[in-house]
Amino acid sequence: MCGIVAYFGNKPAQPILIEGLKRLEYRGYDSAGIALLENGTFQVTKSPGRISNLEEMLAGRHSPATLGIGHTRWATHGRPNQVNAHPHVDCTGKIAVVHNGIIENYATLKKWLLKEGCTFLSETDTEVVANLIGYFYQRNQNRNGQLAPHGCNRFEWAVQQALSEIYGTYGLAILCADCPNVLIGAKKGSPLILGVGKNEFLIASDAAAIVKHTTQAIYLADGEMVIVDSGGFQTKTLSNEQVQKELKEIEISLDQIELEGFRHYMEKEIAEQPTALETCLNGRVDLKNGRIILGGISNYLRELTRAKRIILTACGTAWHAALVGEFLFEQLARIPAEVEYASEFRYRNPILEEGTVVIAISQSGETADTLAAVEQAKERGALVLGIVNVVGSSIARLTDAGVYLRVGPEIGVASTKAFTAQVAVLAMLAIELGRRRHLSTDTVQNLLQELTSIPQKIKRILRQSEAIRQIADANKDRENWLFLGRGFNYPVALEGALKLKEISYIHAEGLPAAEMKHGPIALITDKMPAVFIATRCSQYEKIIGNIEEVRARGGKTIVVATEGDEQIKPYADYLIPIPETCEPLQPMLTVVPLQMLAYHAAVLRGHDVDKPRNLAKSVTVE
Ligand code: F6R
Repeated sequence: MCGIVAYFGNKPAQPILIEGLKRLEYRGYDSAGIALLENGTFQVTKSPGRISNLEEMLAGRHSPATLGIGHTRWATHGRPNQVNAHPHVDCTGKIAVVHNGIIENYATLKKWLLKEGCTFLSETDTEVVANLIGYFYQRNQNRNGQLAPHGCNRFEWAVQQALSEIYGTYGLAILCADCPNVLIGAKKGSPLILGVGKNEFLIASDAAAIVKHTTQAIYLADGEMVIVDSGGFQTKTLSNEQVQKELKEIEISLDQIELEGFRHYMEKEIAEQPTALETCLNGRVDLKNGRIILGGISNYLRELTRAKRIILTACGTAWHAALVGEFLFEQLARIPAEVEYASEFRYRNPILEEGTVVIAISQSGETADTLAAVEQAKERGALVLGIVNVVGSSIARLTDAGVYLRVGPEIGVASTKAFTAQVAVLAMLAIELGRRRHLSTDTVQNLLQELTSIPQKIKRILRQSEAIRQIADANKDRENWLFLGRGFNYPVALEGALKLKEISYIHAEGLPAAEMKHGPIALITDKMPAVFIATRCSQYEKIIGNIEEVRARGGKTIVVATEGDEQIKPYADYLIPIPETCEPLQPMLTVVPLQMLAYHAAVLRGHDVDKPRNLAKSVTVE
């Protein structure tokens, strides 16, 4: 949800900012812009749409500026046009700002600033930040009569004054036209990282934008700021207390964020699932001793094993993984579990009795609603664990303990490899809790064997790409689809529908198959493909019955079934056979052909798969 990048060093800033913005484009692509500080004035270039538009505007311009800020936008306040694009400069021309987040009290502040004589050009909340900093920068004292310091210390002071007036969330990079050797970053609620290179520094929303230049970074915490100048950098709280931060090694490498011959990140990430899952499982499945080792939560296993209730909370695809988790905890560990949309949980005044453990699931670790749900659960005294991909992200830091997915950066806006890994982690957790509570050694051993065979089985599914592409081609012009599954595969039906919706803009609904006859069956015609997940499982006969109901009404069926299942053939207009595995682990296999189906449908319809309209990868606003 918006990406920001800033450069301070001895190289021309412009190409570094553009390159950084491209790495962050998955966070938003409504507009883009940069501001370079050249001879005491800002050179601002902004464009609606993609970074490529901005590049076209900058073609032939090679600024010598070595200090600059850049932004790629996911619009919240104001339409995605040029005026609303960042960077925003205050009305005196002294302060330039890029911002990721939302300023909740911007309307009140704007009213006040207008009265004080400030002028505004855009509809954004960010311009208020620029003007507020600019306002204090021009003053000799703050509202309490405290005198402003001189020189560039005044810039830093003005940032602190302004931010003390602001409610909301922000990751900010700020420049002052009078201070050609100063770059300031500040964070609250939105991610911000400082890359520390040799005589150069980068501030960015995430490591992808800086890893080409340095692998050493500092992760700012909420309420902290960083001031970079020719002497190096210092980190402080927003109330001006020094803080010592540890320099950390960035855990992603450049090749992980390159396309490496794939057409899209989504295609790459679907294909990466076998290796990603191997990495996720590696060292955690102890086949020899028939147990699971999850170092990150080992101190909490006793509490988890005795839990009276597990609440899983997440959004979107991660919520679908949580739904699989509910089945896993109940079936394998026999612990009551329930799933909550994080956005609902946080406002619902939830009852968390003793013995309730909350598990938050998030690929990015930055989703605002999930983060707020974690805060809410912690306030109420629950043990809160995280299942997160991005190392050092806000949710990873806020939870009491957790398990990382270890699947590497997920850049495609549609989540794929994170889903399979989330399910893998939940399966490991449920198996281990089941082992400690009641499962027999043989059952655990079988589950573990099956779990380790999943990556190879996904490889076999991936080989069917061409066959799945043909199914997508035959159905791509159908504007309404149904996805149906039962039991463990019901959440997969929801996920299949979400994947199709978000990248191919086809309307799709996911349902527990038996629910169809309570209403949605009225929609069935030969124009509406119904995708069934009908693998061999405890409800196999039941789902065959549901397929019959659709076919009896002329509906066309795309059926994901178990390899070698001859019985299913007459029920499928299109058949996608997948390898067999035990029921609780099936979602990691059944979801893969649905990801591929959605991918191919979107490509065939000519959409930009990695940047679906209106979406952004990391939803850091409510
Ligand atoms: C869908 C998708 C979203 C995310 C959701 C939560 O493909 O990616 O639905 O799953 O925004 O994001 P995280 O997992 O980062 O909390």
